Amino acid sequence: MSKIYLVGIGPGSTDYITPLAFKTVKLADVLVGSRRALQLFPDYQGPTLELRAKNMDEMMDQTVKLARGGNTVVVLSTGDPGFSGVLKPIQNLARDVEVVVVPGISSLQLCAARLLLPWDEANLLTLHGKGNSAPIWDVIDNGRPTLVLPDFRVHELAQYLLDNGADPWRQVAVGERLSYPDEKIFHGTLEEAAHTEFSYLCVMVIY
Ligand SMILES: C[S@@+](CC[C@H](N)C(=O)[O-])C[C@H]1O[C@@H](n2cnc3c(N)ncnc32)[C@H](O)[C@@H]1O
Repeated sequence: MSKIYLVGIGPGSTDYITPLAFKTVKLADVLVGSRRALQLFPDYQGPTLELRAKNMDEMMDQTVKLARGGNTVVVLSTGDPGFSGVLKPIQNLARDVEVVVVPGISSLQLCAARLLLPWDEANLLTLHGKGNSAPIWDVIDNGRPTLVLPDFRVHELAQYLLDNGADPWRQVAVGERLSYPDEKIFHGTLEEAAHTEFSYLCVMVIY
């Protein structure tokens, strides 16, 4: 029977890809992923579909059609597919197709590890692609650290919080380009974060 495998590939470096992810890619009739994700599997020589920010919906539709047509489709998802990943869109489209999740190490997990932060009592939040940072107010003052994937850039989220009355001295950390050779960990205040240039690949922690 045809299946869609949603495979977590970790935060970016091959070191964080599980052996099961490599095994699952070998089952693919078609491999789907961003260019960055596909490049992590140079041994795979079969057909691919490249995911881009602008063709996401179309590629998800195609993934489901290919699976309905009898193909085993493997979709590569940064970090873990179940956190701000491809699980939700695929579930919404493909109730009639068997879906298997191969978990990966989330960028949030690696960020928590770098900061020696036990994350069993943290708020975990994604604003990625939401176009609106307001959901952060539901959790930010409940006494727990918040690990958040910003909607766009860290400095914009920091400025949004400041503009809406957050304490400029509040401590924050940022895990930037985690697992890559140029990974950086920032510690500072909310005010400092609002005036710092960060790359797009960041996890922000608000203490
Ligand atoms: C669509 S979400 C995917 C999250 C992913 N499913 C996960 O579990 O990490 C993409 C966002 O994850 C974060 N991210 C992914 N890889 C990262 C990395 N290597 N370092 C820091 N943040 C990362 C960034 O905030 C990025 O904008």
